[in-house]
Amino acid sequence: MNANTRNQFPALNRLRQGKPVIYFDGAGGSQAPQTVINAYADYLTQGNANLGSPSATSRLTEQLVVEARQAACDFLGCQLAQSVVFGANATSLIFHFSYSIAKQWQAGDEIIVTALDHYANVSPWLNAALACGVTVHTIPIDRETWQLDYSVLANKLNANTRLIAIPYVSNVTGTVVDVQHIVQMARAFAHIQVFVDAVAAAPHVKINFQYLDCDFLVTSGYKHFAGHLGVLVAKPKWLQLLLPNKVAPASEQSPNCWEMGTQNFEAMAAYIACINYLQSLIEDEPVTIDLASSSDFYSGGHDIGSQDMLPADRKQKLENAFTHIQNHENELSRYFMQQLAELRGANLLGQKTTEQRVPIFSLVLANNDHAKVCCALAQANIYCAYGHFYAQGIVEQLALANESGVLRFSLLHYNTRDEIDVLFNELDMILN
Ligand SMILES: Cc1ncc(COP(=O)(O)O)c(C=O)c1O
Repeated sequence: MNANTRNQFPALNRLRQGKPVIYFDGAGGSQAPQTVINAYADYLTQGNANLGSPSATSRLTEQLVVEARQAACDFLGCQLAQSVVFGANATSLIFHFSYSIAKQWQAGDEIIVTALDHYANVSPWLNAALACGVTVHTIPIDRETWQLDYSVLANKLNANTRLIAIPYVSNVTGTVVDVQHIVQMARAFAHIQVFVDAVAAAPHVKINFQYLDCDFLVTSGYKHFAGHLGVLVAKPKWLQLLLPNKVAPASEQSPNCWEMGTQNFEAMAAYIACINYLQSLIEDEPVTIDLASSSDFYSGGHDIGSQDMLPADRKQKLENAFTHIQNHENELSRYFMQQLAELRGANLLGQKTTEQRVPIFSLVLANNDHAKVCCALAQANIYCAYGHFYAQGIVEQLALANESGVLRFSLLHYNTRDEIDVLFNELDMILN
């Protein structure tokens, strides 16, 4: 990434006590480019309005919603903008859809959740299963590969299975899950829906909903340079067939009938700006594909530039932009892990190569002093995070201390090698 990319993010130029600030907590929330920040102000400056009135501001807001849906459609690689549903955040969208999906279940049915997930994609399903007497199976993590244990998954699938809820990327180990493979396993049975939490994937992986062929996929704008806005895509048939929980007078039309209350229009304006920021990334720099580390499902499953999906211009630019992001992030990952190998007393939870991983690095330190180290780094203007990050399944399977959990460093495309150097110099001083 060149300096121009970083310069678009005002927070990256922030000084605290005269020194630059380093953001290594991207998985907790990314920084926003100026165009995204401006979009919030521009929407509210032009005039706020609700939908459905003849005023010019209302019409502009209606147009904005249409454009935001199209932006999400391009970003998430789906065919129909009408399959996009907005909400407050990922957690509330998953809970919202879990109520409707569970209306199809009956006692004796089974569902599958995983130990790799953030609990936003576990608790809603556990609650719904409990309410209707449905059996829940949890797929463990394979400690060799840090993938889900696919053999356990294969054993649990049967004609009673109704749902598989999986992560696309783990917010703790950085594992990129082979979603397409799991969908294929599910398709061997008639009635399994696959629900994908792509919140941690969205800043790193070009999501291609159509290609993945899952039933539902959810993201959250503040993790990928937009503001706080939950975005879900579903196969159109589910939005038609399932019954939403809604207030009676609200629209019967999909996708509006799925959107609870008045939506966050200024966040939608920011979301459009974010997708346009992402597509503009390749306008500055030439794209070369890192063949050594590009894997099929990481790049959305098809060759960059292939015509099989006939992507619109923005879709194609987004594909290229993510190839560019992936190349840069893989370089950062290699460098991070190289530096980490020199550090004594730190155990990395996750793949030690760039294969099937994104730059989310969780460490368990020998003395478990994650809080102390995290605070010392914060004093030195290096912002990371520690704890369980709601990934309760990982905490349980690895028997981690719930309080101190892991010390997590999560990088995004705007981070640099120089920042990694500063981090490891500081870690060296703190730990030795
Ligand atoms: C993987 C993952 N899923 C879901 C969530 C919840 O997202 P939200 O904060 O939008 O509800 C998070 C938040 O950290 C996450 O990392």
